Amino acid sequence: MRESAITLAPEITEQELSGLLSAMRATSLAGWHLEIGTAAGGTLRELMRFYSAEKRPRFVVVDPMTYFPDQLAIVRRNLAGAGLDPDTVDFRISKSWPAFRAAEQNGEHYSFIFVDGSHKMHRVMQDLSWTRLLEAGGLICFHDYEPRMPGVMRAVDYFLARHPNYEVIGRAERLLVVRKTARSPAPEVSAIDRAWAQVENLYHQVARSLRKRLGRR
Ligand SMILES: C[S@@+](CC[C@H](N)C(=O)[O-])C[C@H]1O[C@@H](n2cnc3c(N)ncnc32)[C@H](O)[C@@H]1O
Repeated sequence: MRESAITLAPEITEQELSGLLSAMRATSLAGWHLEIGTAAGGTLRELMRFYSAEKRPRFVVVDPMTYFPDQLAIVRRNLAGAGLDPDTVDFRISKSWPAFRAAEQNGEHYSFIFVDGSHKMHRVMQDLSWTRLLEAGGLICFHDYEPRMPGVMRAVDYFLARHPNYEVIGRAERLLVVRKTARSPAPEVSAIDRAWAQVENLYHQVARSLRKRLGRR
């Protein structure tokens, strides 16, 4: 069992949470909010509590809910314990990629996206596809942007190097806050980008296991 399943705490630090909240405070974000990867819903709870009930936008959560047993029930209990109605949250029990395809087909738009799902490069690249649905002026925040999570750093750096209409506006420990300054002329993440991330992921996986084997000799 993960610790957060018992403590119901966010899996981000206080400083990272305060970085998230101050970025939200500095930007008027009235549209839908999305969290990719929620664990026990600790950060979700704090993000929702940031808004008064009247002003709270729709919160969408995408997660396959297999992180620990009874994950969804635990998230719901966490929210209810903080006085938040879990029925107001749009839970999508799914991995990020199929959920993105469905959201795109439904013509959804978001003001705020918090990416904290799988840390593998090709998965983060799939998460980055959601930027297509992010309004200009909206924020996308990444957790675990640090050298110990090379999959996250590589995917985010690859993305930022290709999209000048996304600017880094904040950093707190392992949290990176990025603003979309203008609409993109074409979908941000292509099939080639996703294929490239798969190849990179495989290459690093093989290199890692080779290093381990050689190190053991
Ligand atoms: C590090 S935890 C999230 C922590 C949470 N955001 C918090 O701050 O407390 C990672 C979560 O990502 C979910 N996850 C793993 N792979 C995923 C994927 N491909 N798409 C969406 N969520 C995923 C896991 O089920 C888990 O709940």
